[in-house]
Amino acid sequence: MEISKIANFHSRSHGAVPQPKGDRRFHVWLFLVAIFLLMSSGMPVATAAGGQDKPVATAPGGGEKPVVVTAPGGSEKPAAAPAGAGEAKDTPNAMSVISNTCVSCHSEDNRGIIQQWGNSKHYGANVGCYECHKAEEGDPDAFMHKKYLISTLVTPKDCARCHETETKQFAASSHARAGSNLDVTIPHTLATMVQSDGTKEGLQAATSGCVQCHGSKIEVNKSGKLLPHTWPNSGIGRVNPDGSLGSCTACHQRHDFSLSQARRPETCGKCHQGSAHPQKDVYNESKHGISFYSNIEHMNLSSPKWIPGQDYYSGPTCTTCHMSGTLTVGMTHDVGKRISWNLSQPVSKPTGDDSDARRDEMKSVCFSCHTERYVENFYSQFDNTVNLYNNKYGEPGVRLMEALLKSGLRTEKQFDDPIEWVWFKLWHVAGRNARSGAAMLAPDFAQWKGFAELAELFYSRLLPEADALITKAEAAGRGAQVAEAKKALLDIKNDPANVWMKSSGQ
Ligand code: HEC
Ligand code: HEC
Ligand code: HEC
Ligand code: HEC
Ligand code: HEC
Ligand code: HEC
Ligand code: HEC
Ligand code: HEC
Repeated sequence: MEISKIANFHSRSHGAVPQPKGDRRFHVWLFLVAIFLLMSSGMPVATAAGGQDKPVATAPGGGEKPVVVTAPGGSEKPAAAPAGAGEAKDTPNAMSVISNTCVSCHSEDNRGIIQQWGNSKHYGANVGCYECHKAEEGDPDAFMHKKYLISTLVTPKDCARCHETETKQFAASSHARAGSNLDVTIPHTLATMVQSDGTKEGLQAATSGCVQCHGSKIEVNKSGKLLPHTWPNSGIGRVNPDGSLGSCTACHQRHDFSLSQARRPETCGKCHQGSAHPQKDVYNESKHGISFYSNIEHMNLSSPKWIPGQDYYSGPTCTTCHMSGTLTVGMTHDVGKRISWNLSQPVSKPTGDDSDARRDEMKSVCFSCHTERYVENFYSQFDNTVNLYNNKYGEPGVRLMEALLKSGLRTEKQFDDPIEWVWFKLWHVAGRNARSGAAMLAPDFAQWKGFAELAELFYSRLLPEADALITKAEAAGRGAQVAEAKKALLDIKNDPANVWMKSSGQ
């Protein structure tokens, strides 16, 4: 334990209110750029600076002392990126002339963008508009904009120019593939078949729903403009015109790209909450969520480095467990790297041959704040919950649904038979609630929104509805054809896990 860090931490948290880095410098610089450009364009300076229509809300002239002229790139600016910026490279000594031009114009119409960027570490490192938005010849979404070839999208390929490590890790994650693997799935049928009016535009339910989380396939017209049924979109696995997958701005909101924002659980909660993937709701109810929100002012959220047990001591966030570095493992942008079970499928399976190694990496996070026995016992409870779900509901349910299909009691097409809706709700909502609740410590999800719902759907809907289908077929003289379904149903009823159905007791 580093005592000096603790001392530091305390003096920081009780010290003066921190000033956003480079703030005043930014306004002075913006003012100078504005004057320079307005003078060279022959416009009267008075209308820009100090006039009623100030270019920036808190621009110089609003009571701030005039400051010595230190142009960007002056000695105040760090020439190289300080620690914490990963492997960011290409840090120039001054803002590029082209970016200055972009700013001069956009500070009139889109002040919000300029201000956000002015608060960012990028501004401090002379990474301007053009450094991110510049396009290569041949990019499908490139267009000429005031003499410069740019694109509106800033994709992982663009960020990779300076952040190679993070981009590689992200590209290896299932996040990056969450948009491209969408159209072959059962929930996808829900969007295209059940919620469409039969036209491409009529896929609005998916445009505003599925792909805002998963990512759209972005389409561009001949002049490089992005088509409205595909953009705006910051889905995590967006398919970009330059061939890259994903969207860094799914988590790093532009244009401040602040670490404190990315580390908050709300960042993940845009996608990871609600009935099908309740992780944020689970977290809010958990001891970890309680601890985070109770201690938020001690969480040191904007620290360049963010090691649990060293830079903060209270409730871990999604980031802590799934991404951050610890004293023993490095930070990762592959959020699957510490996951040992797949919890989102009808039946949970280990995530691969290396699932033990993945689990060990997660445990190393827990060890920052808990002892080994505590963590081992937690995993034993978690595994038992997943196995209970698999053995009692997931696997028998899959077998029953397959037998109904083979017996012609439902069709291959999804969601045309009522029993398919029951089954979907069972594993996709209740089954995920139970498993997520156990994985991330929300007993209400594990029990009432999980196992209680599972039991109701299984015993009072799935089995009776299967029974009715079989009985009806038998009455119609098709007993032989539905024998397989009948056997699957009987197997479930005779399973020791379900003997309670036969007993007359309480
Ligand atoms: C799932 C959300 C998420 C996505 C997507 C994401 N990031 Fe991050 N990123 C984070 C979080 C959270 C942190 C802070 C982690 C910490 O400090 O423990 C971070 C940190 C960083 C850092 C600072 C690294 C350091 O050493 O301090 C850089 C640079 C970065 N991300 C770049 C990217 C790039 C480039 C992409 C796209 C290829 C990307 N991120 C996509 C969540 C995300
Ligand atoms: C002479 C003024 C001017 C300059 C210089 C300028 N822009 Fe723009 N830019 C505009 C205007 C006006 C729009 C359209 C605004 C709107 O639709 O609200 C625009 C739109 C954009 C868009 C959105 C395009 C879209 O998809 O619709 C981006 C991105 C952009 N500019 C970036 C830049 C960058 C990067 C630079 C510097 C290389 C730059 N601009 C230089 C005036 C300018
Ligand atoms: C660190 C990289 C980065 C820098 C620097 C940057 N941008 Fe962006 N910008 C982005 C990203 C990421 C998006 C999101 C586009 C997308 O969907 O991929 C974006 C989107 C935009 C858009 C379109 C979206 C909207 O909200 O209208 C405009 C316009 C824009 N930027 C202008 C600017 C201007 C002007 C500057 C300079 C002050 C600038 N950007 C600096 C990364 C950057
Ligand atoms: C031209 C190089 C360049 C490009 C392109 C670029 N960055 Fe950066 N980025 C940097 C530098 C340099 C820093 C370090 C600044 C510092 O720490 O002072 C940085 C810092 C960051 C940080 C950490 C911020 C913090 O508060 O410590 C994040 C997150 C980040 N970048 C994300 C992105 C994303 C996402 C993109 C693409 C949309 C991107 N960057 C594009 C150079 C770049
Ligand atoms: C609110 C954001 C959100 C919306 C809307 C959404 N999803 Fe998802 N989806 C997720 C998240 C988060 C996961 C990961 C769940 C987990 O691991 O527990 C996921 C998982 C999936 C998976 C399983 C991936 C796997 O490998 O386990 C499929 C398939 C899927 N979604 C398809 C869809 C379709 C199709 C739609 C629209 C009908 C949709 N989703 C709507 C966020 C969303
Ligand atoms: C824009 C939507 C979005 C955001 C924001 C987002 N995710 Fe995801 N996440 C998804 C989707 C969709 C999936 C399912 C991917 C698939 O398997 O197809 C997923 C999957 C995951 C998985 C399972 C990975 C695996 O390989 O099994 C983890 C863990 C995860 N996300 C953690 C996070 C964390 C932590 C954050 C915040 C720092 C976050 N996500 C932010 C949409 C998102
Ligand atoms: C205390 C650490 C911790 C925190 C905090 C945490 N998780 Fe988890 N998460 C876990 C563990 C442990 C698992 C189960 C891992 C396994 O399968 O081995 C898990 C599983 C998941 C999965 C399931 C992936 C799958 O298989 O479908 C997703 C998605 C996820 N977490 C996202 C999040 C999000 C989003 C947050 C914040 C709202 C969050 N987690 C907060 C530890 C944490
Ligand atoms: C940054 C510190 C930190 C990390 C990392 C952390 N925890 Fe915790 N954990 C806490 C705190 C604080 C509590 C609340 C203690 C209390 O209620 O007295 C807690 C409580 C718990 C509880 C008790 C839940 C309850 O409802 O009683 C379990 C179990 C647990 N953590 C498991 C884990 C696991 C497993 C991991 C790793 C995947 C982990 N923790 C990572 C700080 C942490």
